[in-house]
This record gives sequence, structure tokens and C-alpha cells, in this order.
Amino acid sequence: MKKILLLAVLLSNTMVYSAVFAAAPKGSGPEVINLKTGLVPFPHWKHQISNNSECFNCHKAEGGKIGDWGKETAHDLCISCHDLNEKGPVECKQCHK
Ligand code: HEC
Ligand code: HEC
Ligand code: HEC
Repeated sequence: MKKILLLAVLLSNTMVYSAVFAAAPKGSGPEVINLKTGLVPFPHWKHQISNNSECFNCHKAEGGKIGDWGKETAHDLCISCHDLNEKGPVECKQCHK
């Protein structure tokens, strides 16, 4: 019974998820960004959704380029949030292939 319930929850999450996903607003940048060769693709829209469409967690302004982009900025930004949420990759090999 528990297994069936869990499956139902998973399924309904997926459905809500794809509904929101399809409605990603224009001007929100690329759906997926290949930051660098050898790095797993960055699911940009998926992150916008999990951030309740707030851009400022990553972009200081409304979007556009993140200033001073590079290893330090990226690691500070990406890993700390995954750590905090206990979701998303935190180990080197989960991001760097
Ligand atoms: C979890 C972090 C994160 C969130 C949240 C996020 N973005 Fe991004 N976004 C990035 C990263 C990383 C890049 C690529 C790095 C760069 O271009 O500086 C990017 C790139 C972009 C670009 C392309 C910039 C260019 O000129 O190539 C646009 C436009 C953009 N984002 C808009 C948005 C908008 C609008 C939102 C909010 C609805 C948003 N982003 C939310 C991380 C994020
Ligand atoms: C503000 C919080 C936050 C920031 C900043 C953030 N992430 Fe995430 N990320 C998450 C969460 C939460 C998940 C888990 C999403 C889920 O399971 O639905 C995740 C999941 C992921 C995943 C796995 C996606 C999947 O489909 O399983 C990748 C890859 C990822 N993040 C890369 C990055 C990279 C690269 C950056 C920096 C450019 C970044 N993230 C910045 C919150 C964040
Ligand atoms: C959440 C994903 C993520 C994790 C985990 C992560 N990195 Fe990164 N790393 C990135 C991103 C994003 C960049 C910046 C890529 C760019 O310049 O666009 C980067 C850049 C780098 C760079 C410099 C650029 C390059 O690719 O040559 C090195 C070296 C690096 N990381 C090593 C590591 C090591 C070692 C670990 C583990 C201790 C680690 N990274 C963990 C996402 C991650």
C-alpha cells in the first residue's frame, strides 16, 4: 500500500512539474546550459522552477550574464545550495564527467 501511495505522489509531482515546465516564461534564458565541456548540462529552467521563478538567487539582476563567472563563483553558488537543500550534486564527479 505504501509503495502504491509513493508511486502516486511521484506521478502527480511529475505531472505538475511538466505543466509548469512547459509554461516557462520567455526571456528566461536557455532551457539547458552547457557551461563547459566535461561538465554535466545545467538544467536552467528546472532551477528557475525549483527557485519559484526567483532569478536573484543566482543572478543579481533580472537575468543575463552572471558577473565574474568561473570556478570560485560557480562552486560557491552551486554546491552551497545543493548542500543546504540536501538535493542536487555536491561531489566533483556528479558535475564533472
Ligand atoms: C540556480 C541558478 C539560476 C537561476 C535560479 C536562474 N538562472 Fe539564469 N543562468 C544561470 C547560469 C549559471 C547561467 C549561465 C552563466 C552565465 O551566462 O553567466 C544563466 C544564464 C541565463 C541567461 C543567459 C545569459 C546570456 O547572456 O547568455 C538568461 C537570459 C537567464 N539566465 C535568465 C534567467 C532568469 C530570467 C531567471 C529567473 C526566472 C534565471 N535566469 C534564474 C543560473 C540561474
Ligand atoms: C538556489 C539553489 C540552487 C542553486 C544556486 C543551484 N542549484 Fe542545482 N539544484 C538545486 C536543487 C534543489 C536541485 C534538485 C532538484 C530536484 O531534484 O528536483 C538541483 C539539482 C541539480 C542538478 C541535477 C538535475 C537533475 O535533473 O537531476 C544539477 C546537474 C544541478 N543542480 C547543477 C547545478 C549547477 C551547475 C549549479 C550552479 C550553476 C546549480 N545547480 C545551482 C538547487 C540549486
Ligand atoms: C554542482 C556542480 C559542481 C560540483 C559538485 C563541482 N563543480 Fe567544479 N565546476 C562547476 C562549474 C559550474 C564550474 C564552472 C564552469 C565554467 O567556467 O563555466 C566548475 C569549475 C571547476 C574547475 C575549473 C574549470 C574547469 O572545468 O577546468 C575545476 C578545476 C573544478 N571545477 C574542479 C572541481 C572539483 C575538484 C570538485 C570537487 C571537489 C568540483 N569541481 C565540484 C560545477 C561543479
